[in-house]
Order: sequence, then C-alpha cells, then structure tokens
Amino acid sequence: MTLSMKDEILKRFLFANGEPLSGQYLAEQLGISRTAIWKHLQTLQEEGYTFDTIKKKGYILTAKPDKVDPARITSFLATKRFGQSIHYLEECTSTQTIAHELARQGAVDGTIVIAETQTAGKGRMARPWESTEGKGIWMTVIIKPDVLPHQAPQFTLVAAVAIVNAMKSLYTNFTPYIKWPNDILIKGRKCTGILTEMIAEMDRVQALLIGIGINVNQQLAEFPEELQTIATSVSIEEGLSIDRAQLVAAILNNLERYSDQYIHEGFAPIKTLWEEASGTIGKQIKATTLREVIEGKAIGITDSGVLEIKLANGEIKNVYSADIEI
Ligand code: BTN
Repeated sequence: MTLSMKDEILKRFLFANGEPLSGQYLAEQLGISRTAIWKHLQTLQEEGYTFDTIKKKGYILTAKPDKVDPARITSFLATKRFGQSIHYLEECTSTQTIAHELARQGAVDGTIVIAETQTAGKGRMARPWESTEGKGIWMTVIIKPDVLPHQAPQFTLVAAVAIVNAMKSLYTNFTPYIKWPNDILIKGRKCTGILTEMIAEMDRVQALLIGIGINVNQQLAEFPEELQTIATSVSIEEGLSIDRAQLVAAILNNLERYSDQYIHEGFAPIKTLWEEASGTIGKQIKATTLREVIEGKAIGITDSGVLEIKLANGEIKNVYSADIEI
C-alpha cells in the first residue's frame, strides 16, 4: 500500500509500541530530511497525536486520536489485497457512492472507502443509515471476484461470517450472531448492517460494493431515540472503548480469507461457517418480502444463500430478500 509520508512516519511510531524513534533514524529510513520529519510530526500533532521528546533518544508517541486512518488500519492488516488501497475521509455522503465512482474508475480489488461520518448513509430498502461521527465503522469494500451476477448475494453472507468471526476473535464479553441475510445482532439488538451493491454486465460482475456499518463506540444515549430500544454497539456489549482500526483490519483479514476460500472451494464451507454463526436457523420467524408475509420455521439456507422457510402446512418456501422477525 502506498501511504503518504506522514502516514509512513505514523506507522513506524505505531509499530514502535511506545519506544522512542529518533529524527535521524526516521530521516534515514524514509530518505527525507530531519526538518521534513519534524514538519510531518507537527501536522500529526495538529491532528491530535501527541509526542514526547526523550533526550538523546528521540520521540515517543504518547496519545493518538481515535481515528480509522490508513496508518492505524495498516498497522493491524495481514492481507495481500484487501485494505491495501484505503480512501479515508473525515466526512462523505455515503461510502457506497464514493465506492461506485472509484469502481467505475478502475479501483483495484480490495480497495476500501472509510469515513468518520456519512451525511447520507444508505441502509437496505432505501432506508437511511445513522453514521455518528467517530463512533462507528462506516466503510465499503470494493471487490472484484470472477463470479456471475447471481452469485453476488452470497458475498453478503461471506461478509457477515467475516464480521462475526472478527468480533469473536477480538472480544470476549458477548457473542454476536447473524440474522439472515445480513444483520449482526447481539442479544436481540442490531449492531451491524451490510449492504451489498453490484456493478455488472448481463454475464459478468465488474465489482461488488460491500457496505459495512458497525455501531462501535456509541453509548445508548448517543443513538437517536427511535434506535435506543433496538440497537446496540460493540462497546456497550464489551464494556470497553473499542479500537475501531483494529476491528476494521480484523474484518478485512477475514474477508480476504473467506472470499478466497469461496472462489477456490465454492459456497459449501462458507455455508457451514454461516450456519454456525446464525441465530435464524431453527427458529420460528416472520419474513416480510416486497410481495407477502411468510410465517414458519427457518430450516436452512440453500447453496445460493436463499433462506428456506417451512410453513405450518409443510410447504417449503424460498425467500430471496426479506425483513425477518424472530
Ligand atoms: C442495513 O440496512 O442494515 C445496511 C446498512 C449498511 C450501512 C453501511 S455504512 C457504510 C456503507 N455506506 C452506506 O451508505 N451504507 C453502508
């Protein structure tokens, strides 16, 4: 990934883990003057990073703002493609809209767009998506898999598994689960939504735009009133303030791994992971589709990720898109 010089410097401080780095060392490493290093440190300080000067040793990073900037994300990344190109914005209308533009301009596989806040965040079914500044993960991952358009919805399931397993690997005080097809809940409250959009020709996917919205550091009172009984955040459930950049990187690490697994081995292993993480299968549910309301028992998903509901009369209905109540 090509980071700016300022971010290269920041990355080195993040990796230094509180150890001092001298101006001389940084200047040699990065091939620029010590004055240039000092100027970048000034800019970082203006952005909220603080450095202490240790005599004869250099600078140590003592505080960092809570941002999802590229250097922070990169310091936790272990991917080859996903997150190797990061478009970071303080504010935008919707990361989906920016991702559409970038995809059309030929963005590489795994490019991400991430913002501190969105002024017109989009949810499914054209609903607005609340994106409180600095409190959540509001990002779109552009992926370019060699698949047919009808396979696109499966990537929503790939993403859901990637997010649930990233959370399970980082946090210990709660168990997230998937509500079909694309919500992640904790104790019945929504903490994550996924919106997958596609740019395609009749027989070829050009790009999938996987929009991920995660409530991370909001406290209950910070949600709009109408969400206070149905939403939650990772921080509320874990009981700690959460490092958003670390969670972003853990998701990207998983998303690359599971997307590659899907391409090489097909949907079957993802289906197994999804069923393990699901809170829908085996439950009595009410599915509201655009055309009808279906009540019955969710018995599984098909190989293409379609939800199967068994009605009281034994008939099995396939549901492609719906709102689910459990
Ligand atoms: C849902 O309705 O549950 C899906 C919500 C998806 C929200 C995310 S936030 C990042 C990306 N940009 C958007 O405008 N929407 C998605």
